[in-house]
Amino acid sequence: MKILILGSGGREYSIGRAIKNEQQQHELFFQPGNGATENLGTNINIKDYNDLAAFAKENKIELTIVGPEAPLVDGIVDIFKAEGLTIFGPSKEAAQLEGSKVYMKNFLAKYNIPTAAYIESDSIEELYKFTDTLKTPIVVKADGLCGGKGVIIATSHDEAKKAIGEMLSGKSFGDAGKKVIVEEFLDGFELSMFAICDGDDYILLQAAQDHKRIGDGDTGPNTGGMGAYAPTPLVDEELYQKVRERVIVPTLDGMKAEGAPFEGVLFIGIMVVNGEPITLEFNVRFGDPECEILMPLMTSSVSEMFHKAATNRLKEIKVEFSEQFAVGVVMASANYPYSSSLPAEIVEDTVLHEEIQKYTHISYAGVMKEDGTLYASGGRVLVCVGLGNTIQEARDRAYLRCGQVHFVGKKIRTDIAYQAL
Ligand SMILES: Nc1ncnc2c1ncn2[C@@H]1O[C@H](COP(=O)(O)OP(=O)(O)O)[C@@H](O)[C@H]1O
Ligand SMILES: [Mg+2]
Repeated sequence: MKILILGSGGREYSIGRAIKNEQQQHELFFQPGNGATENLGTNINIKDYNDLAAFAKENKIELTIVGPEAPLVDGIVDIFKAEGLTIFGPSKEAAQLEGSKVYMKNFLAKYNIPTAAYIESDSIEELYKFTDTLKTPIVVKADGLCGGKGVIIATSHDEAKKAIGEMLSGKSFGDAGKKVIVEEFLDGFELSMFAICDGDDYILLQAAQDHKRIGDGDTGPNTGGMGAYAPTPLVDEELYQKVRERVIVPTLDGMKAEGAPFEGVLFIGIMVVNGEPITLEFNVRFGDPECEILMPLMTSSVSEMFHKAATNRLKEIKVEFSEQFAVGVVMASANYPYSSSLPAEIVEDTVLHEEIQKYTHISYAGVMKEDGTLYASGGRVLVCVGLGNTIQEARDRAYLRCGQVHFVGKKIRTDIAYQAL
């Protein structure tokens, strides 16, 4: 197949890499891709969605896979489908499950999917009133997309009210904060689950855990994610079953009832409280770096899975997973997540150790290529992925690989997967 992948991160690299490793040969295009996706296919540079659809038609692209949320929320899937193109991702309407937290929370409430008690409003009085009924900490969320920065966990009522005021005034997040959610704080452990959906059916991938904070022991500011591992032993079959019955099935049914069948990746942010999965939020695409560890755990064809999902035929295939564990360690640049860093040349040792050659690889993210040299140019530069028969083994291998990649200022967390060890 000719396949177009949208995005420029490690997530998109890992999808491309998985497809490249399939037995069948495929031709890949990336919009815009990064300095390393060039090695997997062709990077193009067409920002306008209509122009991109025209490119896909002209070049007989048989499948388009959308990595990030922004084009989905903008409605790229609708534009491609109107042109008769096959694209994997939710429609603009269905993408509201991520694009609007108010839409998502009201959807969860309407279909009785367990979620934190909340109020959504644009009235400061209403929000304050509800805030006063809650114990601290109190969770305050902006409605719209904020690049993972729109949630404040306030430790006092005053702090919560200040956050509400700043969101509503547009000061903190512009239009994304025009509506605000205040909700109860849930105390438990967090999971990410991913269901590949075709509107009617779904395939649930292994549960993962990510690491949002920059520092070891979950300290310091939030990042896009500093590492992840899967499958997590914190989930047993009973919990998977609860997520299927209480979250995924009612969501697919509910979205159909809303007239917006959900096709794409349903990313469920879950807080497990006393053994019960409570939905924190939905995203409508893969997490990054979760994608980088889930892709190598799939032993059946990834391109076929996405293609079947995009054509409402998931029922026809059986997806297979490796028995192994995967651990991904993100390597970030010097000033991440505070500010950008100067481009730094990436030097990789030749990997001689057979085991490391066989059971590790790199998914490249914030990298650019100049005169054949690869430079670290973004915040999160790359992900070293290790596979193993235990989490410990996968993790040891990932860290061994980390030791063989160098650039000035490289920054990693040293405790990825600690929750499981
Ligand atoms: N009700 C809640 N109780 C406890 N922690 C929460 C709650 N809601 C969100 N969080 C924490 O804040 C993080 C970000 O919130 P989330 O709803 O996932 O928004 P986003 O990913 O868009 O920033 C979550 O991953 C979780 O750690
Ligand atoms: Mg989240």
